[in-house]
Amino acid sequence: MHPIDLIRKTRDRQPLTPEEIRFLVAGAASETIPADQLAAWLMAARLSGLSLDEIHQLTLAMRDSGERFHPHAGPQPLTAPAVDKHSTGGVGDKTSFLVAPIAAACGLLVPMISGRALGHTGGTLDKLESIPGLRTALSLPQLHAALRSTGLAIVSQTPTLVPADRILYALRDRTATVDSPGLICASILSKKLAAGLDALVLDVKTGSGAFLTDFAQARYLAALLVSTAESAGTRTVALLTDMNQPLGSAAGNWIELAESVALLRNQRSRLTDPLRDLCLQLAAWMLHLGGVAPSLPAALDRAERALADGSALDRFLAMVRTQGGDTTVFDRDFHQPAVTHTLLAPRSGYLAAQDTTALGWVVQRLGAGRTQPGEPVDPHAGIHFHARNGDFLALDQPIATLYASHPEQLPEAIALFHAALTWSDTPPAPTGPLVHSVLDLAAARQILSESPTQAHTPGHHAVI
Ligand code: URA
Repeated sequence: MHPIDLIRKTRDRQPLTPEEIRFLVAGAASETIPADQLAAWLMAARLSGLSLDEIHQLTLAMRDSGERFHPHAGPQPLTAPAVDKHSTGGVGDKTSFLVAPIAAACGLLVPMISGRALGHTGGTLDKLESIPGLRTALSLPQLHAALRSTGLAIVSQTPTLVPADRILYALRDRTATVDSPGLICASILSKKLAAGLDALVLDVKTGSGAFLTDFAQARYLAALLVSTAESAGTRTVALLTDMNQPLGSAAGNWIELAESVALLRNQRSRLTDPLRDLCLQLAAWMLHLGGVAPSLPAALDRAERALADGSALDRFLAMVRTQGGDTTVFDRDFHQPAVTHTLLAPRSGYLAAQDTTALGWVVQRLGAGRTQPGEPVDPHAGIHFHARNGDFLALDQPIATLYASHPEQLPEAIALFHAALTWSDTPPAPTGPLVHSVLDLAAARQILSESPTQAHTPGHHAVI
């Protein structure tokens, strides 16, 4: 087999065979196919689209490109169902810090392999590592041991887990080939399926702060993810959820953890209730798919109890300790950013809309993200939001507080923040539902069969 033949076939919309896809993926993982040919194939796939079967084969080949985690195998197999949640990225999305401990407190194993800040979105690992001492680079035996003792772990990808994705993802980032539903699907699911999950709940974001802002695109991606994961044998549902404003009252690193711990301690506010509600719904689906609760209402009830009785908080603190983190930070005045600046409403009126992607960039510019791979991030950078879409604010009423380490980071952040807001004199239309819809396999198949892109070339999906 020769890479150039495979590039030509995908360019000309001729489907690759499973052997050809395995050849490409093995060549990526071992770096025996040069980067220029891999990049050309990625662009061909981005422009021509891949068939559902090719996406399925690509996902499996990437999953199998390195080591895999087997929670139910080995000398000391774990017996509880292994269930994870994956969000497609947003602003202020700290659901993992609540959903994983709730699910673990209710009897599931949650081996959560997470990522770092990407584009305008924050990274679960970057946020978690703002806890002094906490390590996320666990080996697979250490992950197994952590699950055995606490039922959950939030860790980084190991060097040997899905090596093909590491190579292909870095190439996509440099060649404008990230925004392909088929490539996104294979990238996300290869990592999730390599973790040996019995079930998976996907939180696919849609709206101004999502990677796929358009509802139809997000719905198509959700359907693709559900159908591909189910064909690989993992029970999966996707919740299509709103990202037209930051989730909760904070976006950044440490402040998102502080907000999560406050919720785990049942300290609630009007601004954090949507976050709490979404976490309970995601956890309930995990419990239901994992077989811990016979129905969704029973699962929701179980998840609410785990939050209310403090058992989810206990699991979270146990996880932090197991991963080497100092839990005393949650009881002392740890948050001491060098620069604090409160933004005031520039006029009276209703907050009609927020460009949430732009707000994500503000958080990154304040120091929560990096400009070069491997750079350290500022644990204390971030924003506390004091208003939500639809709120009425008087002139000079506080709208948000910015945190940074260097005063020179503020002017650009302030200008970007103000430009991201839309004001109106009259009340805006009510915000849409937090959870637009839930897709199971039947719904996913229906969406994929209705997709107008099916008509494109027999067997192929164009990128929508
Ligand atoms: N997250 C991933 O892991 N891969 C993608 O392609 C997009 C988001």
